[in-house]
Amino acid sequence: MLRLCVIALALCACDQAPAGSFEPTSCTRIADIPPNYEIAYGAAMQGLFDDYATNGGSAGCVDCHFAPPPQPSGGLDLSLGVSWGHLVGVPSAADPSQVYVVPGRPEQSLLFLKVNCDEPGVGARMPFNGYGGGLLPEQQALIYDWIANGALPGTSTTVFRDGFEIRGFVP
Ligand code: HEC
Repeated sequence: MLRLCVIALALCACDQAPAGSFEPTSCTRIADIPPNYEIAYGAAMQGLFDDYATNGGSAGCVDCHFAPPPQPSGGLDLSLGVSWGHLVGVPSAADPSQVYVVPGRPEQSLLFLKVNCDEPGVGARMPFNGYGGGLLPEQQALIYDWIANGALPGTSTTVFRDGFEIRGFVP
């Protein structure tokens, strides 16, 4: 039943305009959120993909972005063990002119646009339809910081050392 719902959601999104070059709009301000100086991919990023719920419940990106059959939502599998390889340097399934994660460039990374902006340019904001309550600004900032520091598969410890960078689209 869940899989049928996911397919229906994917079909609903198909009539969205394809993106070429665009500016994302209606983005959440993350400028004031304290930077994450140390980020372990497994605990922080995969932990968020597996369960980001902050309302005492349980909800994860992997509830929709899981391995086939039939296929993960958006053509993107964020499951444990494979998510990093499906994201970093990989073109979007919906718009190959966009890359999910460009190391060091969060504003050019579709993964960040999709969680930070209502109009990311490709499809809808994630999690889809605010599933599970959506992501807190702190969780969006965590994704930004991970990408900004090179999108490493292990632990990064050098992000924002000078503390003056402006983050996100909303100053
Ligand atoms: C309720 C189901 C659902 C949940 C939960 C969900 N997604 Fe999605 N996701 C989709 C669907 C459906 C699409 C394709 C339509 C679209 O892009 O709007 C998609 C597309 C995407 C894409 C773009 C794929 C492409 O090639 O264009 C990314 C990136 C993404 N999701 C990331 C996430 C992240 C990160 C989370 C968790 C914070 C998440 N999603 C949670 C259903 C979901």
